[in-house]
Amino acid sequence: MPDLALRERVLVTRDPAATRELAARLATAARPGDLLCLVGELGAGKTQFAKGFAVGLGIDDVVSSPTFVLMSEYAGRLPMFHLDLYRLADAADALAGGLIDERQLEGVALVEWAERLGDALPAGRLDVLIDGTGDDARRITLRAGSAEYARYLEAAS
Ligand SMILES: Nc1ncnc2c1ncn2[C@@H]1O[C@H](COP(=O)(O)OP(=O)(O)O)[C@@H](O)[C@H]1O
Ligand SMILES: [Mg+2]
Repeated sequence: MPDLALRERVLVTRDPAATRELAARLATAARPGDLLCLVGELGAGKTQFAKGFAVGLGIDDVVSSPTFVLMSEYAGRLPMFHLDLYRLADAADALAGGLIDERQLEGVALVEWAERLGDALPAGRLDVLIDGTGDDARRITLRAGSAEYARYLEAAS
């Protein structure tokens, strides 16, 4: 069992700008084929995180919630694929239907409500667990699913 300290890091952000800035720093670590799972209840700040990450990738477009389209694609230093599985009736079908496919190997995929994919999620991923809603500070846990993703933990500081 690897040392948990190498795999997990907890940060606190006091406002949405701080969450976006954290995400922008993490984006400097992004490599093609990366998968980031954004987990947290409605209003936790998953989309705020995605907005900041896009800034870090040099994306000029406004990133909004892809809830109604399931996936939005943006061009930056790397392509960014922003998915939101909230409205998905059957997450397993999303995989079968090619929602997450080899096209995304060229870029980095950020998936809101990724936990809906359950066991279908690969171990090679970064989990971004956001705790808190409303005006509360957010406790953001970065968890590297494999050693390769530990570079995000370093980029967080
Ligand atoms: N520290 C914080 N980090 C992120 N969002 C925050 C924070 N504090 C307050 N907020 C607010 O919480 C809301 C988060 O919304 P959003 O990112 O759309 O959530 P989600 O995508 O998780 O449903 C925004 O209105 C944002 O302004
Ligand atoms: Mg959202």
